[in-house]
Amino acid sequence: MKNCGLNKKLTVRHFLAKKQELEKIVSLSLYDAPTAKFAEDCGVELILVGDSLGSCVLGYKNTIPVTIEQSLHHCGAVSRGAKFAFLVGDMPFMTYHPSFETALKNAARYLQEGSMDGVKVEGGRYVAATVEKMVRAGVPVMGHIGLLPQNILTEGGYRVHGKKQSEADQLLDDAKAIEDAGAFSVVLECVPSELAEKISKSLSIPTIGIGSGPHCDGQIQVVNDILGLFTEFLPRHSKRYANLGEEMKKAFAEYASEVGSSKFPAKENSF
Ligand code: KIV
Repeated sequence: MKNCGLNKKLTVRHFLAKKQELEKIVSLSLYDAPTAKFAEDCGVELILVGDSLGSCVLGYKNTIPVTIEQSLHHCGAVSRGAKFAFLVGDMPFMTYHPSFETALKNAARYLQEGSMDGVKVEGGRYVAATVEKMVRAGVPVMGHIGLLPQNILTEGGYRVHGKKQSEADQLLDDAKAIEDAGAFSVVLECVPSELAEKISKSLSIPTIGIGSGPHCDGQIQVVNDILGLFTEFLPRHSKRYANLGEEMKKAFAEYASEVGSSKFPAKENSF
């Protein structure tokens, strides 16, 4: 397979330039070193160590239980796998809300202990002041508006955000507040396509969409969804590019059967 990978370390400037040149940004949420290397070898430019870690890897039902220690552990792994992609650590629930001081100290941990190049925080104008403090302190920040998985308990579920005019107006304000605070990009999650287009056109920083249609400046997906590792259901906004869950089950069944029947290990697997 052709290597369409990266050959130099990417910085925030790369993403702003891509927006200006109307080139799409390719990003993926993933959690370990080998997957990070495969992804950047195939041209994934921005890797998010998402707090989707909670459901994709750690077996939780949502992102709320993910701790900063768990997140940093996976950030370290991803940083050892990817040399060139821009790496963003997703700050977990309640790690940037209690105070500016907590937010700054925790953001610094992503850069210093997790070897990330930036952090992502959820929320619009309510977190804008925090984003501004982080950026002024030298931390590249990615915003995240629309569906906010860390608000699952107050929202009572997941849904498309911005269908009503009042909510759409608020989202546009949120996006602008995040841009004004100095973020280098903003994730739009589950926002109607038309609104995502309007937001993308009104910002000078790139929008990275998930479930927000084709007009965003880039796209992000969760690796387990696109590889078929999360088999219970496929979110409408995703697409399965492989069926690794099924492949794994086939391989495990064959291995179990061969061990059971003493077919494995064969002569060539023995010393
Ligand atoms: O946690 C995550 O993976 C995310 C992306 C879906 C944007 O927040």
